[in-house]
Amino acid sequence: MASEKLEAANPVSLELFMKYDEELSQECSNIIATLPSESDWFSVQLYQYQGFWYQKRLIQAILNCQNHFQAHDTDIFIVTPLKCGTTWLKALTFTILNRKKYNLNPNLDPTQTVAPHPLLTANPHVLVPNLEFDLYFNTNKLDLSSFPSPRLLSSHLPYASLPESVKQSRCKMVFLSRNPKDVFISLWHFTNRLRPDIQEFNTIEYLFEKFCQGVNFFGPFWDHVLGYYKESLKRPEKILFLKYEELKSEPVRVLKDLGNFLGYGFSMEEENGHVIHDILKLCSFENLKNLEVNKSGKLPAGVENKTYFRRGEVGDWKNFLTIGMIKQIDAITEEKFGKHGLKF
Ligand code: A3P
Repeated sequence: MASEKLEAANPVSLELFMKYDEELSQECSNIIATLPSESDWFSVQLYQYQGFWYQKRLIQAILNCQNHFQAHDTDIFIVTPLKCGTTWLKALTFTILNRKKYNLNPNLDPTQTVAPHPLLTANPHVLVPNLEFDLYFNTNKLDLSSFPSPRLLSSHLPYASLPESVKQSRCKMVFLSRNPKDVFISLWHFTNRLRPDIQEFNTIEYLFEKFCQGVNFFGPFWDHVLGYYKESLKRPEKILFLKYEELKSEPVRVLKDLGNFLGYGFSMEEENGHVIHDILKLCSFENLKNLEVNKSGKLPAGVENKTYFRRGEVGDWKNFLTIGMIKQIDAITEEKFGKHGLKF
């Protein structure tokens, strides 16, 4: 089994989450007092709320969203479990929606008649804010009136925990899933990068057991995916269900599907020209990873942008999982997804 040197800890620690614990509302404290709890993630206590696991402060943020966010019919949501390719899908969707506004290929427009593309200077997470982390983490009083329409937002929330107005409105949701083995490996690296400076690395064995039990942020992964998969079958006009792997293997086809689903389909002229290829190139792993903003920049919360670009490959799990681990995780996937015909 190949091993990889784990990167040094991100200066931002989990204290970021813990320091807000004292700011919980009475409603939130009352709910938390009734919830099952487990220790995970470097001794952070997680609580199971509406079937999924979160740190306390995140439950407050979810309540803020559930009680206060009002969806518009024109809203577009990118929804993902952690580490399924959120960063990539944000870049692609933002670029599809704004493709007439910004220059997709600086080489073809050296005179800069069109504005430079925001992705060249801003991480995708800045361009597409997350509902529970970026908007409602610290407050429930938000004025979103300055957001241009359609509002492009993101969330990691499971379907069952979405604000009612998101479910009831005609807003559209694009859900991105991924092979659970690659999700786990990506999550293991990511959590190690975000660990508090004083903490030891999280061993793969420890996190693997937790992941299989479903005890990780927004886990169980399988239940999260199934919630949206089932809903996408019932309401295909509302939820487009995508897989990271198909985005990798058939990017042109998926991009066309995505454009059509969002009501931003590509014209014949665009399809025959270079627009689709320019979008894919601009949002490619190699391009985004090597931009200065993603090599040295940080998100407002302090997380380094480079944390979101690791390998960007399908099947990296082969380099890390033992045969026993593969059997264990495949058995869970078969048990959960098999009867629904969902394969990765
Ligand atoms: P790996 O850790 O397997 O490399 P998220 O954005 O949901 O946090 O997911 C992160 C995963 O998506 C990481 O996977 C990351 O490398 C990969 N990724 C980020 N940008 C990408 C891109 N433009 N194309 C393909 N994969 C990308």
